[in-house]
Amino acid sequence: MKILITGGAGFIGRHLADFFSKKNQVTIFDNLSNSSKKNIEFLIAKKVDFVKGDILDYEKLKQTCIGFDLIIHLAAKSDVADSVINPDDTIKVNVTGSENVIKCCIENKIKKIIFASSSAVYEDSKIPVNENAKTNPLSPYGESKLEVEQKLKKISLEFEIDAISLRMFNVFGEGQNDHYSGVISKFLKNISKNKPIEINGDGTQTRDFIGIFDVVTAFDCAIKNIEGKKGQVYNIGTGESISINELVKMILKITNKKVEVIYRKAKRGEIKYSVSDISLAQKELGFFPKQKLEKELIKLLNRFN
Ligand SMILES: NC(=O)c1ccc[n+]([C@@H]2O[C@H](COP(=O)([O-])OP(=O)(O)OC[C@H]3O[C@@H](n4cnc5c(N)ncnc54)[C@H](O)[C@@H]3O)[C@@H](O)[C@H]2O)c1
Repeated sequence: MKILITGGAGFIGRHLADFFSKKNQVTIFDNLSNSSKKNIEFLIAKKVDFVKGDILDYEKLKQTCIGFDLIIHLAAKSDVADSVINPDDTIKVNVTGSENVIKCCIENKIKKIIFASSSAVYEDSKIPVNENAKTNPLSPYGESKLEVEQKLKKISLEFEIDAISLRMFNVFGEGQNDHYSGVISKFLKNISKNKPIEINGDGTQTRDFIGIFDVVTAFDCAIKNIEGKKGQVYNIGTGESISINELVKMILKITNKKVEVIYRKAKRGEIKYSVSDISLAQKELGFFPKQKLEKELIKLLNRFN
């Protein structure tokens, strides 16, 4: 297959490009606003094509898209807190940009799209949320993801396009940017330098952390089962959550270090409790996550040493 990955130079995109390029022809379309050419040199060496472009540049996107079988659409502004401060920027890239991607698929007769949605579409929940749970995004970021999911449903029925939205929970793993959502990367980096760990809020907030290789598997399962899907949404998580305080405890135990833990003001737009119910993805996509948090943390810590 010829696969185009928008935002393919980012954290998740690089892992997907690496995996799918083994059996497919992969092109990355990315404006490098949150990555760099250096980050994807290893992929270019493996014959992954790279086009520097912005999803807001419709003409360039349309030209680039010609002849592809499938688009994996990841390009987005993905900083939740920043979306609260600069909602217009997030909405422009995430909604208008995604509309451009969808329009290009229609015009170029590309019949398959997988969209990177997010658990940020849900409201707080201490119990696992399934795809029928109430959506009530707390941030413009979450709103933008929900809006695109809905557009994708509509056009996939109208234009006979097969489409899936994957609502990913908190993804972690090698190569994650520690600038924003990568709380695990941030903690590991600080602890490896014996610097204090900074927690936003009181640390009782929970997250469902899913390893990057499980996420790659989820995309693979989605592609294998995309036929006939008309914008269906699937949760991609582990079905288990951990509080940030427990996470810190786990990291301190693994490293056997004692660093200061500093509590900062909670960031606006971030949900408090988050945990997935993944029964639908298990049943319809055959997705069964395998990576275990503690084991993965040990592996990641070894890379810092
Ligand atoms: N990382 C997570 O935990 C997580 C969870 C749920 C959903 N997601 C979604 O998955 C996708 C990938 O996330 P990620 O963690 O790899 O983020 P990332 O920021 O590392 O990757 C996004 C990529 O998109 C590119 N990009 C941004 N704006 C663009 C534009 N206008 N035109 C072209 N390229 C543009 C960036 O340069 C970057 O390389 C995003 O849509 C994100 O919202 C991520």
